[in-house]
Amino acid sequence: MRILQVSAELFPLLKTGGLADIAGALPLALMAEGQDARVLLPGFPAIVAGVRDLAPVADFNAPWGERFGLRAGHIAIDGAPAIRAYVIDAPALYDRPGNPYEDTARQPYADNHRRFALLGWAAAQLAKGLDPAWQPEVVHAHDWHAALAPAYIAFARQAGPNRDLRVGTVFTVHNLAYQGIFAPWHFTDLGLPGPAFHMNGLEYHGQVSFMKAGLYFADRLTTVSPTYALEIQTPEQGCGLDGLLRQRSGALTGILNAVDDKVWNPASDAALVQGYHTPEGRHMAGKARCKAVLQHQLGLAERPDAPLFILVSRLTEQKGLHLVLGGIDALLAQGGQLALLGSGEAWLEEAFRQRAAAAPESVSVTIGYNETLAHQLFGGGDVTLVPSLFEPCGLTQMYGLKYGSLPLVRRVGGLADTVVDSTLEDMASGEATGFVFDRFDAADYERALRRAFALYQRAPDWRRVRGHAMRRPADWATAAAQYIDVYRQSME
Ligand code: ADP
Ligand code: GLC
Repeated sequence: MRILQVSAELFPLLKTGGLADIAGALPLALMAEGQDARVLLPGFPAIVAGVRDLAPVADFNAPWGERFGLRAGHIAIDGAPAIRAYVIDAPALYDRPGNPYEDTARQPYADNHRRFALLGWAAAQLAKGLDPAWQPEVVHAHDWHAALAPAYIAFARQAGPNRDLRVGTVFTVHNLAYQGIFAPWHFTDLGLPGPAFHMNGLEYHGQVSFMKAGLYFADRLTTVSPTYALEIQTPEQGCGLDGLLRQRSGALTGILNAVDDKVWNPASDAALVQGYHTPEGRHMAGKARCKAVLQHQLGLAERPDAPLFILVSRLTEQKGLHLVLGGIDALLAQGGQLALLGSGEAWLEEAFRQRAAAAPESVSVTIGYNETLAHQLFGGGDVTLVPSLFEPCGLTQMYGLKYGSLPLVRRVGGLADTVVDSTLEDMASGEATGFVFDRFDAADYERALRRAFALYQRAPDWRRVRGHAMRRPADWATAAAQYIDVYRQSME
């Protein structure tokens, strides 16, 4: 199958969160299954710099009249097969400071509707044959940034020269909370026919919603865990779109994200001072060394016996960070240490900084984005904190599992699907892999903390749970097979 993956980010070229990890790993996983997968990306500077041998493919008109170019090249990552990549050449839209979505003052760019409509638009042009050498059979759009692609394709199928266009469309929700909502007067820029701006279309309370376009017009929908697929059909977690999601539930599949073994593997991770792995709980000396070096590097007390809690995260409301802040005293009172890496909301950055300043030997806070340190935290940590309010899938708990830094998570979304609580029963059956709490409050969170400390005191039990966590399968082959099924359905 010829499959075009459309996303705004892709690891290792450009990443603000888990979307990039998935967008980077899925094409390779599909290729490993013998599929002909390519990617389409906006020409952000980091992407243009990272795609090799870029050469012009064709020019095309944006719906608002400007002319842009499409180029193609390949992404070569150490040891992995090259991924063929299309890049939209539009420096006026994409060559800007800040992150892909916001300026340096963290404000969304005022023309984001154009910047991301163009991504969906270019995907639809490729579906219609813009590159005579390669035409996708399936267009797979990720998150609101790419969500207009299914709408453009749906309307192209209805009228004009592309009436018999045969291309399946798949839309994946990585996070329903970010919807790409714009003022109604921007609709005229999008190049969609009038009827698209309708309750049965992308109109959302009088506004334009890119997310709704994807959910309404794609042939098949997926999201990144089975539990989140159910949650988003409820008013509590549906972000205003649960009605539509219930209506489309027959087209919706939850496919759990996986872990890219080439990037996240404690046995071969170049960021770690010493690798480790665990056939039956052995060969773990490297982990102790990683912890000692990490404590030293972060200025924490170099105590092998102090359980080290780590957190690698965007600092936003989603991630439940006020529970972590409120629980720091309890964590320190029980002899633990906390190392956090993250960036995001200013008040959270400041609150964590203050806690580190007050207890530098026990709390380390690094504000910013640092891929290497993220790996080192999973390598040296004992417990990975992910107490999210909601979590479509979550990757850091899966990295925590793989690196033997046991996840402490709230039972929600993909966290519920990936972590098994260390209850006596699950310990006995050998299923336990971490600590899970239910209610989004301090009492439940702190109970889970206490259970983590208690297990840590029982070294043989800790090692057993850790070994089980590290062996939990999280390979991409399973997820890729499920996506391939969905692609087939989208073409029916
Ligand atoms: P989300 O996509 O909601 O941010 P995920 O858990 O799915 O959450 O993915 C987060 C990804 O971003 C992981 O790969 C994590 O390691 C990485 N990450 C988050 N914050 C940072 C940071 N400050 N520095 C380095 N990596 C980070
Ligand atoms: C989103 C979600 C996260 C998920 C990631 C990759 O950013 O917040 O839970 O793991 O996408 O699918």
